[in-house]
Amino acid sequence: MNHIRLNNSNFRVKGKLSVPGDKSISHRAVMFGSLAEGRTVITNFLRGDDCLATIDCFRKMGVKIEEVNGKIIVDGVGTTGLKEPEDILYTGNSGTTARLLLGLLSGLPFYSVLNGDESLNNRPMSRVADPLKLMGAKIWGREHDNKLPMAIRGTKLSAIQYELPVASAQVKSALILAGLLAEGDTKVTGKIQSRDHTEKLLQQFGVQLQINENEINIKGGQTLQGTDVFVPGDISSAAFFIALALIVPGAELVLENVGLNETRTGIIDVVKAMGGDIEIETIQSEGESYGNLRIKYSDLKATEISGAIIPRLIDEIPIIALIATQSEGTTVIQDAAELKVKETDRIEAVVTELKKLGANIEATKDGMIIHGKSKLNGGQVKTYGDHRIGMMLAIASFISSGEIILENPDCIKISYPNFFEDLNKIAQ
Ligand code: S3P
Repeated sequence: MNHIRLNNSNFRVKGKLSVPGDKSISHRAVMFGSLAEGRTVITNFLRGDDCLATIDCFRKMGVKIEEVNGKIIVDGVGTTGLKEPEDILYTGNSGTTARLLLGLLSGLPFYSVLNGDESLNNRPMSRVADPLKLMGAKIWGREHDNKLPMAIRGTKLSAIQYELPVASAQVKSALILAGLLAEGDTKVTGKIQSRDHTEKLLQQFGVQLQINENEINIKGGQTLQGTDVFVPGDISSAAFFIALALIVPGAELVLENVGLNETRTGIIDVVKAMGGDIEIETIQSEGESYGNLRIKYSDLKATEISGAIIPRLIDEIPIIALIATQSEGTTVIQDAAELKVKETDRIEAVVTELKKLGANIEATKDGMIIHGKSKLNGGQVKTYGDHRIGMMLAIASFISSGEIILENPDCIKISYPNFFEDLNKIAQ
């Protein structure tokens, strides 16, 4: 399908939904389950294209991974049990798969090649390759080892102390995985305040990590034990329905079992600051916490989003921009230059496409400025092959005066395979 026509402006928005499993946790559950001794059973795994790419890569390295009664069963081979893949490891659109695998493959005793799709092959990899090389990794790639395809000749790594220059969970996680295979104690310092699923889940697999506000310390040579993993709903997917409920007059939605890890809940803080009506009922507060959210249509006001909150909502900025078009006043988003190196340049994509629909929005060097409220029109818009741009534009169709024609919506399967089915469930 290369386009979809969306006429949603007359729908009421009401009901209950469980959004699919968290993408970041799903990737890690398969990776750590593969590296563990014994069996790992994953409940509510996200069957999006990105996470299926991770499964495929580990199968190519000899891990038995099966789906039984909706659960993913991983028969771990231990940290020394992965085999040299006979073919290229294809990581598709998934930055998490590629970057975490770079860390892992650097320390395993075989040769491998990583390749991705057109978008991923244009995203920076030296942020991972450079520190790995300091540990002794042998990595080659395009553009001075900055771009996929990349070849890795695994070797014995030595521990380092590394100060993270970007708040990236993918870089942090790649170094933790490399540190796990290295000799000695690896210390990661600097901008470590990004999503902490790797730290939480590795501990659940029995790995000892020393973590404080400024430093993560991991001793090399530890083993992982298989475990049962429950994957909460992805707050980054829930974000599209949070926005929908906030901006469609009369709407009310309940979203069940949404992950509430504090490193991911920036969107809730922002919605509250804008005056949004959102209630949280926590179900589990330990480990990967989760709960139910009730969101109602609200009179919203503009806010400023910058600094430490940015890594806690980086993937939600496209949908926050749409919310801001429906909020009174000027919303300013700053310190978010990382958006330029996501699945597409999300500053450019959000600003260009929302302008086509009549929004008053401008790009800045590290964010955007949005003047609300604006009435949105219909129009023909595109996803840039970016799932989150696609979902944001589909949500816009509920408040646009005319039809929205969305080009290339297939990419939405990357993180939310049943997105349109779920939209139909709550639109009456
Ligand atoms: C992810 C980390 C984030 C996020 C991405 C998933 C992860 O990127 O944008 O969608 O699973 O580790 P950073 O590496 O920039 O934190």
